[in-house]
Formats: sequence, C-alpha cells, structure tokens
Amino acid sequence: MIIAIDGPAGSGKSSTAKAVAAKLGFTYLDTGAMYRVVTLKSLRNSLSANDFPALKQLTDSTKITFTGAPPAIKVWMDGEDVTDAIRSDEVTKNVSDYCAPTVVRESLVDQQRAIAGNTNVVCDGRDIGTVVFQNAELKFFMIASVEARARRRQKDFEKLGVTKSIDELMKDLEVRDHKDSTRANSPLCKAADAEEIDTTGLSFDQQVEYIVAKANAILNK
Ligand code: DC
Repeated sequence: MIIAIDGPAGSGKSSTAKAVAAKLGFTYLDTGAMYRVVTLKSLRNSLSANDFPALKQLTDSTKITFTGAPPAIKVWMDGEDVTDAIRSDEVTKNVSDYCAPTVVRESLVDQQRAIAGNTNVVCDGRDIGTVVFQNAELKFFMIASVEARARRRQKDFEKLGVTKSIDELMKDLEVRDHKDSTRANSPLCKAADAEEIDTTGLSFDQQVEYIVAKANAILNK
C-alpha cells in the first residue's frame, strides 16, 4: 500500500508521515530530503540552478540512501551522513530553485519509485499524489495557516537553540510556497482524489490517528 501525503512547507506532513509509518510498520520515504541533498551538493560544488547538464550529471550520480526506522531516519549522500546538513538555512532557502529543473525531478522521481518498489510506504512531498505515485491507495493534502506553520517552525528552531521571529518565518514560508506552487514542472497542488486535512486546529495525535484509521480500514478489509 502507498500512502501519499502532500502539502506546503510546515503543514506537519513529514512528522505526521513518520509517525504513521512507525505505527503501521511501513517504510517512510522523505522526498523533500532528496531534493535537499541535491541542493546541498550543488551548493558545495558552486553549481548554478540553471546549469541543467551539470545538474543532471550531479543528480544522476549522487547516491541518496536512508537508514533507520521512523521517526529516527538518517539521510546519506554518497556515504556521508547529511541528516542535519540538509536542514541548514542555506539549503532551505535555495531548495526551491534546485528542485524545479526537469532534469532533477525526472531523476529523483525514478529513484523514489525504485526505493518504494513493491513495499508498503508512507511518502511525503509536493507531487506524490499528482505525479510520483498517482495510484496511491490513500492520498492526503495537508494544509495549515501560514501563521500556524511559522509557529511550528519556530518551535523546531528553538529546539536547535536558534531564535527566529514569526514574521521572518512567515515570509520564508510564503516565498517557498510561491516558488513551489508556481513552477512549471510538477507544482505543489492537491491531487483531484486527495483528501484535504487542515491541521491548523488539530493535535498531532489526531492527525496521525486519522490517517492510521483510514489505512487500517483498507488493510483489514
Ligand atoms: O518537505 P521539505 O521542506 O523538506 O522539501 C524541501 C523542498 O523540496 C520544498 O521546498 C519543495 C521540494 N520538494 C518538491 O519539489 N517535491 C517533493 N516531492 C518534495 C519536496
């Protein structure tokens, strides 16, 4: 079974997807992490997001792997643990530019389908229900107000000892949402058959339980 969870940055989809995968014993596939790896490596190599031939070469030749069980997943780039490095401010600010080129998306979508194989997967991203796994048995599109999302991000940063204002975080989210939803290739959008979940007023446990119950209803049929 494939459970696709899409939505804008900070909507809670990654933490929800991880918890759902842990509860169901499914594999968790974080596609955003893959775009972040390509961004990190491109920045380290001073590669422009417009240099499509070089980006294609880099994306095709980078070995991206995941280890561990959700929620403690580690992300590896050519054998280097980049779990924390891909969450840096610099990567976050640039990822919407590096994830847009078709050469990057085609390569990573192929890799995402190969990783999922025929296993039970919870996969989160922006184009999972619309492009990557159009036949997913369950599709969700998680949304929340920009302010609620910025507050969640602020808490994440606090855990890292970093102070950020809500205004700055809201601005960053809006810029990224705009780029992600207006790009030509596989923009962020809700699949026609996806169920929208507004997490603004929901607790984390409620979000997780809602999806787990839907999955169990299919699994126990
Ligand atoms: O989920 P995230 O914030 O880690 O994703 C990082 C970026 O990657 C996000 O700004 C858009 C892009 N992305 C994408 O284009 N398609 C996906 N399936 C997942 C992420």
